[in-house]
Amino acid sequence: MASPVVPTAYEPKNMKFRYLGNTGLQVSLFSLGGWLTYGGTQKGSIVKEILKTAWEHGVQTFDTAETYANGASEVEMGQALKELGWPRDEYVLTTKVFFGTGRKEPNTRGLSRKHVVEGLKSSLARLQTPYVDVVFAHRPDPATPMLEIVEAFTQVIRNLNLAYYWGTSEWSATQITEAIELAARHNLIAPVVEQPQYNAFHRERFEVEYAPLFEKHGYGTTIWSPLASGVLTGKYNDGIPEDSRFATNKAFFENTVKQLKSPEGQAKIEKVRKLTAIAERLGASVSTLALAWAAANKNVSTVILGATKIEQLLENLKAVELLDKLTPEVLEEIEGVLANKPSPPNTFGRKR
Ligand SMILES: NC(=O)c1ccc[n+]([C@@H]2O[C@H](COP(=O)([O-])OP(=O)(O)OC[C@H]3O[C@@H](n4cnc5c(N)ncnc54)[C@H](OP(=O)(O)O)[C@@H]3O)[C@@H](O)[C@H]2O)c1
Repeated sequence: MASPVVPTAYEPKNMKFRYLGNTGLQVSLFSLGGWLTYGGTQKGSIVKEILKTAWEHGVQTFDTAETYANGASEVEMGQALKELGWPRDEYVLTTKVFFGTGRKEPNTRGLSRKHVVEGLKSSLARLQTPYVDVVFAHRPDPATPMLEIVEAFTQVIRNLNLAYYWGTSEWSATQITEAIELAARHNLIAPVVEQPQYNAFHRERFEVEYAPLFEKHGYGTTIWSPLASGVLTGKYNDGIPEDSRFATNKAFFENTVKQLKSPEGQAKIEKVRKLTAIAERLGASVSTLALAWAAANKNVSTVILGATKIEQLLENLKAVELLDKLTPEVLEEIEGVLANKPSPPNTFGRKR
């Protein structure tokens, strides 16, 4: 007879952990996501190999969404997780509903109670798992009453046991606050985490608009595109490499590539070159520096990495160690190069 005791499969190595905002759930400071990669350009054994490498370096949090590759990301990641066979209580799995999987029927997207419940059930079927740890509302849905949205996510957690927590993605601070307040007023479950874009070139919303959410609600964050889709690796400094995201997803990134060629885009590339010099002095790559910079913000619960190759992941995970070298002086120097620190609102001297 098999022993009822499940041996641990997970070794944290040098990974750091943070609480997902004001919850009791701990996430690895670096996590791994499947947008455009798993089920997109990468399928089969490479997906499993990348997940395995992440896990072997202490990554225990994984992110996907119903819409990634129209469901194929969940299928690929679910299959890899099944084959890897890690104990389910040793990793954190998150997915997102809203955009659907590319079908035309109007109720197969949005945040109606119908799609939140049915969308999540379909996601779980593709992932081959009975629940996710966190389900995100991938965008706000102005067409659905906020009370219905909060009720729907409460239902999937409280009544259906399909998730433990729910979060928002690219919601405004006002929308998040409305959801939290409605939940309190109606004895429903409030969202606890936002999944926003945050990187050295995209700061305003995270650092200014969300500041009250961090302060008043201890709202957590799982941040996306920490390398600005690769711009912060320096790989686009001199053009578009053939096997890079901007080439393999040409239509989607057409405007981004155009923007990169403009004077503003070239100014960003110039900043990447200057950051590279700082990184080299610290014995690191600019990718690693950009990731450690994001992780240095204490309001970040986890930095979601994206990787098409094992080498990229290994390079990026060096950010765990580099973080300790980001002294206030180094951060100040980086700030000088970026020259884009958003200003907080004027408090007229009335800040506690
Ligand atoms: N909630 C949302 O709306 C939302 C939106 C976007 C993403 N996300 C989540 O956030 C995750 C991460 O976002 P992201 O993939 O955009 O992150 P990213 O770190 O900005 O970009 C990752 C991509 O950059 C390239 N790359 C990574 N490391 C590299 C290295 N060391 N050297 C050279 N190239 C490197 C790879 O693409 P190539 O090799 O193809 O160039 C990789 O797939 C996603 O997987 C998803 O889970 C959420």
